[in-house]
Amino acid sequence: MATQKKATLTLDGKTVDFPVESGSIGPDVVDIRSLYGKTGAFTFDPGFLSTGSCKSAITYIDGDKGELLYRGYPIEQLAEHCDFLEVCQLLLTGELPNEEERKQFAGIIQNHTMVHEQLIRFYSGFRRDAHPMAVMVGVVGALSAFYHDAMDISDQQHRDISAYRLIAKMPTIVAMAYKYGIGQPFMYPRNDLDYTSNFMHMMFATPCETYKPNPVLTRALDRILILHADHEQNASTSTVRLAGSSGANPFACISAGIACLWGPAHGGANEACLKMLQEIGDVSRVGEYIKRAKDKNDTFKLMGFGHRVYKNFDPRAKLMRETCRDVLNELGLNDDPLFKLALALEKIALEDDYFIEKKLYPNVDFYSGIVQHALGIPTQLFTGIFALARTVGWIAQWNEMISDPEQKIGRPRQLYVGAPRRDVAPKGKA
Ligand code: SDX
Repeated sequence: MATQKKATLTLDGKTVDFPVESGSIGPDVVDIRSLYGKTGAFTFDPGFLSTGSCKSAITYIDGDKGELLYRGYPIEQLAEHCDFLEVCQLLLTGELPNEEERKQFAGIIQNHTMVHEQLIRFYSGFRRDAHPMAVMVGVVGALSAFYHDAMDISDQQHRDISAYRLIAKMPTIVAMAYKYGIGQPFMYPRNDLDYTSNFMHMMFATPCETYKPNPVLTRALDRILILHADHEQNASTSTVRLAGSSGANPFACISAGIACLWGPAHGGANEACLKMLQEIGDVSRVGEYIKRAKDKNDTFKLMGFGHRVYKNFDPRAKLMRETCRDVLNELGLNDDPLFKLALALEKIALEDDYFIEKKLYPNVDFYSGIVQHALGIPTQLFTGIFALARTVGWIAQWNEMISDPEQKIGRPRQLYVGAPRRDVAPKGKA
């Protein structure tokens, strides 16, 4: 019988043991749930640098090796051999589908791509220049006002139908946000197209002529969705889990995830990165921005660089760079100045001592803006596409949390540094 690994802590002369648990791969965890009861002290870990919030079997990242696994499969292999809906099934069920299961799932998703006609009216309440993420936070949250028939989160079938509705409707909602912003009519989904071709149709078709999706560009976008599908307990996934831990409905939880993803330190980095490249403009100015990124007194950070977990290349950045090349080649844009600038910036940064010492590498957001820009996707919509892709990861993680018998409402504690107890002075006697 293997002996239980343990960690020992001594505090105020008292020594306490805590069990240590090992996962299938990756770092062990010290189970400190009894710490406060045994010592009267809390742990303190702002930003959760050393804190595991849950057990999960969905995604694993080895930050030192630059490895990303979805249910054990390397992201490189999934990006090459699978399409986004197959990866959705993998993340949701734990296994890749066979041909019959793949067809069945695609059919289910296809039957849920339309949104309620009354939901369409929500868009007209926004200004035409509203940021698409503001529209998505509102519209996705509002879905909970339309689907009362399946919001018992203790019912697996209800959770499944909500998952299908969200995965199916996100492309429609994102495309509608785009069309509304440019003043073009909404395009209804088409059941003769696959998931990503249908999204391209809803984005770029008009009622005036038949739209024929370019298979190379569609495959590139499908790969981009795969690369963004899930990523362990990142900020937006943790937001979805925390919202879900209170029993909130799935639509409200996903809306909370979209809100968190919007931040430039997280999913908003792809939009910020493209704007940064456009601001740098020319390779001759790269040195000036690298200098600013290193300057402690300058809040500027090199967008698309650095990561809490990856201390090596983000494998998604390499795949995104390849996808970028494929798309620019297909479009005859091999001399795209932004791509050439990004390649030069990457090279210069990776040879700089500051970036080497702090282990700052390009992340998923560094090239994704360039390839989406080349696909004709407006900069403000980049994070909306990220949210579209991450919806399946958020749902898989939300499902895993609800099915976890150890699940409790998330309620962190604090180190209080405010005023000690004091009395209100009666009026006029302060
Ligand atoms: C995503 O978590 C996920 O998995 C997220 C994600 C996902 O798929 O869900 O991978 C998606 O959000 C990718 C990250 C996109 N964000 C950006 O590209 C924005 C730029 N990057 C930084 O803001 C930063 O690198 C973070 C937010 C990504 C990570 O921040 P951490 O882990 O809190 O690290 P840190 O800010 O403490 O940085 C460590 C040091 C600091 O210097 P010191 O205080 O130690 O002297 O590195 C420096 C930072 O100043 N640093 C950078 C930098 N990133 C970190 N300096 C210049 N430029 C940068 N980009």
